[in-house]
Amino acid sequence: MSIAVSLVGSDDRDFVAKLRERGFRAASVALSELEAAHPMGSKGPDAFVFDVRGLSRLPREIGQAKRQFPSAGIVIVAKALDPTEMLEAMRMGVNEWVAEPLQIAEVDAAIHRVARVTARPMMGKTIAVLGAKGGVGSTSVAVNLATALRAASGQPTLLMDLHLAHGDAAVFFGVDPHISVLDAIENIHRLDETYFKGLVTTTKAGPDLLGSSNRPLQGGVEAMRVRSLIEFAATAYRYVVLDCPRSDATMIEAIDAASTVVVVANQELATLRSASRIANDLRMRCGADRVKLALSRFDPLSDIRQADVERVLGGPVKYVFPSDYRTAVAALNRGEPLVVEPRSRLAESFEEFARDVAGLPARPKETAKAGLFGLLGGRR
Ligand SMILES: Nc1ncnc2c1ncn2[C@@H]1O[C@H](COP(=O)(O)OP(=O)(O)OP(=O)(O)O)[C@@H](O)[C@H]1O
Ligand SMILES: [Mg+2]
Repeated sequence: MSIAVSLVGSDDRDFVAKLRERGFRAASVALSELEAAHPMGSKGPDAFVFDVRGLSRLPREIGQAKRQFPSAGIVIVAKALDPTEMLEAMRMGVNEWVAEPLQIAEVDAAIHRVARVTARPMMGKTIAVLGAKGGVGSTSVAVNLATALRAASGQPTLLMDLHLAHGDAAVFFGVDPHISVLDAIENIHRLDETYFKGLVTTTKAGPDLLGSSNRPLQGGVEAMRVRSLIEFAATAYRYVVLDCPRSDATMIEAIDAASTVVVVANQELATLRSASRIANDLRMRCGADRVKLALSRFDPLSDIRQADVERVLGGPVKYVFPSDYRTAVAALNRGEPLVVEPRSRLAESFEEFARDVAGLPARPKETAKAGLFGLLGGRR
């Protein structure tokens, strides 16, 4: 089926005809009619092309379109490449920017890049985990989520370490992969299921791992390549969990392909400041529904309570993981995710998290299974 494109706010009469000549199902919509043309709850186009050449600033309707149709790609056609406006556009969730002199082939290529997200069959659920500050426990959350998802659902699950160099997810699984996420990105054109299976490392805990590289990163990588990799992984696995670096704009752009983004914070002021900024940016980019808040190393006696956190972050905290340093570090030193040894409250909280993500019913509180011996055996 051809790609459905909504050309918004264009004074250029030939533009829509040129898009149709290129094989797109294109319709021209005035800015003021955007809402009427694409009402809430409708399917929406595969891509929006906002023609802003006649405007003095970016219209707020861009953000509105992104929030309402988070999986539709957005291309801007502008007079020039203006870095300030481009940055603002990126924050609004724009994926591509094409400037004058306008080449229809360039617009065509940009639409194909952004519309791929919806045009491609996706079966897996992708959960991106992002720490609001260093050391909050986001890799612990990602690794244990992947392990618990695999165990609870029995479905193929992949943990992808998106720290392109020197990430530590492999350490949590006690493995030392020789092929990394960087190799996958560099060979993106070769990706098929067999090749991909050769890139991942199987782990004793259950999930497959596409780990980080030990070689330093030369230059940057294009967000589109990372995004293609994530999309590809979601066609091969039921669940794909991404351990994401927080301060990498390319990665933030790439995790647009995720179904859910979990921002991990804790009860420290500095972390909360950063979490608030990150959560707001992500809500603008991906739509508020896809962004969930989690509290790691939760201390019920802290001066900062859950309600305070929710006020600062502007939304409910969906997942809470208790503080239990001894259990966390012991598992790390054993080289296995802590949910493999399910006798702690922390492991239970990761399991509940996974069951919620997978849409499985919560496990009934099992007094029988734990029993008195279970309690004596270290149930915290
Ligand atoms: N719930 C918890 N309670 C206590 N300690 C924890 C908890 N979760 C993780 N830790 C410990 O905190 C440390 C940092 O955890 P982790 O590596 O998961 O954080 P991170 O956010 O991924 O850090 P980085 O920014 O380096 O990537 C580790 O020693 C880990 O064992
Ligand atoms: Mg980490």
